Amino acid sequence: MSWITSSAPGKVILFGEHFVVEGQPAIAIAVSLRAYVTVEPTQSDEIKVYSKNFDLTETFPLNQRDSWTGKMTPVAVAAYTAMLEADKKTGLNIHIDSQIPPGSGMGSSAAVAVATVHATSLALGLQLDPRKVSDLAYEAEKVVHGKPSGIDNTIATFGGAIAYRKGEGFIQLKPIFRGVKLVLADTGKPRNTGEMVRRVLALKNTYPSILDPIYYSAGKLVVEAAQLLEKGDYENLGILMNINHGLLSAVGVSTKEIELLVHTARENGALGAKLTGAGGGGYIVALCRENDAEKIISALRSHATSVLTVNLEETGVRKENI
Ligand code: MEV
Repeated sequence: MSWITSSAPGKVILFGEHFVVEGQPAIAIAVSLRAYVTVEPTQSDEIKVYSKNFDLTETFPLNQRDSWTGKMTPVAVAAYTAMLEADKKTGLNIHIDSQIPPGSGMGSSAAVAVATVHATSLALGLQLDPRKVSDLAYEAEKVVHGKPSGIDNTIATFGGAIAYRKGEGFIQLKPIFRGVKLVLADTGKPRNTGEMVRRVLALKNTYPSILDPIYYSAGKLVVEAAQLLEKGDYENLGILMNINHGLLSAVGVSTKEIELLVHTARENGALGAKLTGAGGGGYIVALCRENDAEKIISALRSHATSVLTVNLEETGVRKENI
């Protein structure tokens, strides 16, 4: 058995985060930043995980599954689920090197989980159907995110652009993305997806009659946005991004740092701007015409800790020929 490297892309949620957790649709786009995971079977009885990004090594004994607690536990769990699927328990060395900023709402943990399941199963001689890879990664994601919608593992597995509804699965969209860019700006504040999801759900449980119409509105917005995306109607898409941001503020996941970046992008010519992912920190995403991008990027640089421009990534999880 030799080592295998697989990679999977990060994502940006363009519409519908949080509302997706309770059954509304959402739209996500895979972006041109990937997580690389190398898996090598060993003779030992432990899973050893090294993260280059965190410069961290942790070990997880195979025969003490209940005692796993480290930061890298979801990675070990992802590998373990693939091992159970292959019906082969073996020690593993796992090496993670990700281009996706962690804690950014760009799906870094899901991309790592998907690439880990993919590489582990291949290293153990098992060729899994992509849907199975996505499902096993979802099981591992539960360890970190509590109640994830499944959107992150789906987009990391399949790439491209998808409209997703929990329990119903996803459809692949055919977006027209010409003459525009997505600019991402970091508030510099890390966030915790699990905690933000729990907070929004608690608010919904406390005020169901007030929050239900907001969820309904978010769902309608996503259906409209999918059509606009496939037509390349960026003007109206931008307007819907702004409305979507307002709905996310209403459920309490915006912050003053997020508002500053969103308004800076809009004032400097973005067609639309909103928080992306769980909120509470992390990134905002702005839709910009190519000609306006430079001005928007430089305005964002004075308030953001990092500004990225990303492309749509067509390819989901894949084996790397290294
Ligand atoms: C996190 O990237 C997106 C949320 O909607 C949570 C989820 O979909 O699992 C906040």
